[in-house]
Amino acid sequence: MTPPPPSDETARKRSASDFVFGKVIGEGSFSTVYLAKDIHTNKEFAIKVLEKRHMIREKKMEYVLREKKMLQILSGCPNYFVKLYCTFQDVERLYFVLTYAKNGELLPHITKNGSWNLECTKYYAAELVLALEQLNAKGIVHRDLKPENILFDENWHILLIDFGSAKIMTAEDKKENEEDGKKRKNSFVGTAQYVSPEILRNLETSYASDLWALGCIIYQMVSRLHPFHAGSEYLIFQKILKLEYEFTEEFDETTKDLVKKLLVLNPTKRLGATDIKPYSSIRQHEFFSDIDWDNIGPPPKIL
Ligand code: ADE
Repeated sequence: MTPPPPSDETARKRSASDFVFGKVIGEGSFSTVYLAKDIHTNKEFAIKVLEKRHMIREKKMEYVLREKKMLQILSGCPNYFVKLYCTFQDVERLYFVLTYAKNGELLPHITKNGSWNLECTKYYAAELVLALEQLNAKGIVHRDLKPENILFDENWHILLIDFGSAKIMTAEDKKENEEDGKKRKNSFVGTAQYVSPEILRNLETSYASDLWALGCIIYQMVSRLHPFHAGSEYLIFQKILKLEYEFTEEFDETTKDLVKKLLVLNPTKRLGATDIKPYSSIRQHEFFSDIDWDNIGPPPKIL
């Protein structure tokens, strides 16, 4: 029996004229993100717009295709990732229709004076661990995890964005990661403050590169500072490669222990890196003793 034809509104290919475009809510080197409303449903979306000419001139088409593929893979994941509803194009531009993260970026909450506290750090570090578990299960390494790429939905749960630098781990990658010392070239990806030593040294990337970034983000949530800070990218990279960082007075012994176990130069020695069930050893760390991993519950107030 042939199924009934889908109702025209759900099946029809969308175009820019199906949306009213509002304010700019995000800007990258190759894209602008607008808040937009579907004229048929009044539902709000974030629409990422990319100029084809600019992408081709800068040879960035690969990143766009990669992001689309990753978002499609993650569309089956119920939490922690923006959903890609549809894509379309016109002569000049490409459009990605995404979940609108109503409550903006994590970054301002952990850099400004406010009510961010250890309870918030523990809760959101736990949500990040759950998100990284889902990425791992899908074979994806984000490779540019940072507070600017962590947004909040209307219920203050995290939504990860920006999968243009992400990588799917192939069977070959996994094998090479198990054989310590094998070298492969990676092109530099990521952001100076959060980049892992193995990416800097052109060694293999693995899930553990995201665990390094997790360590940097937890450090920043606690102290408002980057663990590796200096006047130039070059000097930041030198500090990362020498594991040159210090704890500030805000850190208690348990938090220090977790950060120390994530910021480890050898990626295979990072907490969680060799877990048979990722990331059970991170879940079991004392830092997370208040977290009910089967039901993380509502977020603490951070306003
Ligand atoms: N900035 C970039 N992407 C966004 C999104 N999906 N929602 C809100 N702000 C964004």
